[in-house]
Amino acid sequence: MNSNKVIWITGASSGIGRALALNYAQNYPDDRVVVSSRSRASLEETFKNNPNVFCYAADVTDQTSMQQVASTIEQNFGRLDIVFVNAGICEYIDNYPVDMASVDRVFDTNVKGAIHSVNVALPLLERVSNPRIVAVGSQVVFAPFPRAGLYAASKIAMTAFFEALRLDVKRQNIAVSIVYPGFVDTPASPDKSFPRPFLLSPEDAASRIIDGVNRGRRDIIFPKRLYWLLKLKYLTKLWEFIVLPEDIKK
Ligand SMILES: NC(=O)c1ccc[n+]([C@@H]2O[C@H](COP(=O)([O-])OP(=O)(O)OC[C@H]3O[C@@H](n4cnc5c(N)ncnc54)[C@H](OP(=O)(O)O)[C@@H]3O)[C@@H](O)[C@H]2O)c1
Repeated sequence: MNSNKVIWITGASSGIGRALALNYAQNYPDDRVVVSSRSRASLEETFKNNPNVFCYAADVTDQTSMQQVASTIEQNFGRLDIVFVNAGICEYIDNYPVDMASVDRVFDTNVKGAIHSVNVALPLLERVSNPRIVAVGSQVVFAPFPRAGLYAASKIAMTAFFEALRLDVKRQNIAVSIVYPGFVDTPASPDKSFPRPFLLSPEDAASRIIDGVNRGRRDIIFPKRLYWLLKLKYLTKLWEFIVLPEDIKK
């Protein structure tokens, strides 16, 4: 498969980002894959056998360090075709009141970090034909999960940003895909005490994402079984509200 694209994946030292980079490196040898995360050492160790992967340290919460990667991409490759806005963290609410330092960490990474990534990537994407931004959201946006209110709020905010961005960059011919994974077995996923129906490996998640990108999908939702389960739970809540209002008030 020849394409000669330049692809940038944020948060590629682990989990879904790492699996995305390895999939591109192995199956698309003519592409050049730029990977970033806060630790360059762990990136270099992971991708030491992949000569078409280029490792850079950058913290998504720091727009200056993200700009340095964008400038290096411009100098070294002269183009950027796809950016995967993937870096993210999940912190659960263990008790109330909510720890506001946790709110700052999650929103700085998942919301502001995503916006920083777009800010530095857009000027490069505008110059190529068929550019694409791929934002990794979550199915947590479709229904409430216990203890996950903070993470869900950040992913809903992030998703809203990319839905509006899709309209704003349409004239520049920049496509925006939003990915809604279910449970993926990575360090960010809940521990085993939390039920994780239809759990996927990072490799399976990555190949579903790349398949969706190759097909030009706007929304990449998987596994669909979880999606429908979450949607049906919403319906259940609605029925409870209509039929049993006394129970809700208790
Ligand atoms: N796992 C799931 O079940 C699941 C489900 C739905 C959506 N997602 C989403 O998928 C994306 C990837 O998650 P994952 O499960 O693959 O998590 P992961 O294995 O913990 O990987 C997270 C990646 O993000 C990087 N990262 C974290 N904070 C960063 C920062 N401030 N600046 C730069 N890089 C940073 C980490 O690298 P460093 O620590 O080296 O910086 C790491 O490479 C996230 O957006 C997550 O919300 C995950």
